[in-house]
Amino acid sequence: MPFVVHTDTSPWSRIVEDARHYPSPHNSQPIKLRLLDERTAEIYYDLDLGLPAESFGIPFGHVCAGVFLEGLHTVAAGLGYSVTERLDAGDLDFGSEKRLHSLGIVTLTPQPVTEEARERHRLFLKRRTSRRPYDRTLVPDEVLRSASAVAAQGGQVFRTTADAGVVRELIRINQSTLFSDLQNDAVYGEIMTWLRFSRGEARKRGDGLSAEAMLMPGRVLKFAMGHRELWQAPVIGAALRGIYLNTMRGVRQLGWLEGPFAGPADYIEAGRTFLRLWLDLTANGVYLHPFGTVITNPASHRAFAHAVSAQEGDGRMAWMLFRFGYSKRPPVAHRRPAAAMLIGAPR
Ligand SMILES: Cc1cc2nc3c(=O)[nH]c(=O)nc-3n(C[C@H](O)[C@H](O)[C@H](O)COP(=O)(O)O)c2cc1C
Repeated sequence: MPFVVHTDTSPWSRIVEDARHYPSPHNSQPIKLRLLDERTAEIYYDLDLGLPAESFGIPFGHVCAGVFLEGLHTVAAGLGYSVTERLDAGDLDFGSEKRLHSLGIVTLTPQPVTEEARERHRLFLKRRTSRRPYDRTLVPDEVLRSASAVAAQGGQVFRTTADAGVVRELIRINQSTLFSDLQNDAVYGEIMTWLRFSRGEARKRGDGLSAEAMLMPGRVLKFAMGHRELWQAPVIGAALRGIYLNTMRGVRQLGWLEGPFAGPADYIEAGRTFLRLWLDLTANGVYLHPFGTVITNPASHRAFAHAVSAQEGDGRMAWMLFRFGYSKRPPVAHRRPAAAMLIGAPR
């Protein structure tokens, strides 16, 4: 299908410019758009930018699509458009020859901009992952109640713990997930393709996980990742563990989402709700840091579900875990330019 060159009257350029800031695992930014006309676009998941090595790579691909769609609605509403979707909730297939998996068609309809829509658009652009130490302050109950209500609207249950022993155990599980993932060749290879060891590289490529965002000096991260056998060694392994755990200082609370998680339609809805909850916490000045790898690593997921007595079964799962609290503003994670998100657009 030909790429439609959009004029200044097309809303797409402004919408894509902001919507590309949606969060994605490893900041791989797998969603692509083909503009069909000034109101319509086809949305794709670029399988070459997915994370197939992880056992939950497919569900998390759909979660990411849901996160993107929620971001698209948020940005479009802030700019005066509602979005109608015709989704195709087929399974992602990382082995497919066709590398662009169509997620469906979205259509824009002009509508008045409300003050609330403008504010949510602003929050969407403000949101960031914080991997910094938190300041030990507990998030007030009314903020938790608001986040729970947002989760409930999406059919999810938001549960939290501030029990020091459970918090310590979940942070230990998250840290040991990183170490165990590094011993898995496929997952290790995948992480290496997304790490950006210098600020220049992170800015130039506009994607991936930068050493800066991970709060590690680039050279230390490069050395540590290049010598994964040392992570098991007594002295250096303990030192690396110490550096990592140091970034987790001051964490008082963890939260997780439990809900329907049995197929693509569930995953997409779960992703939408996750972003809504993230924006609600952002509105209250609260940062979060997803521990997605605890879910995608089967042994870690079992340990986590056991530690919090998660209510799972009958198509329901505790499918997202995160730490949350108050921190200094974290470094920005760069994005590729809008043109890189558009199929058929001149770069
Ligand atoms: C579904 C999902 C899972 C994620 N899992 C992890 C994770 O396991 N560890 C981590 O450090 N960040 C995780 N993140 C955060 C992303 O790495 C982050 O959103 C991305 O790097 C962009 O940075 P930003 O959120 O500051 O814009 C996850 C994000 C999403 C949407």
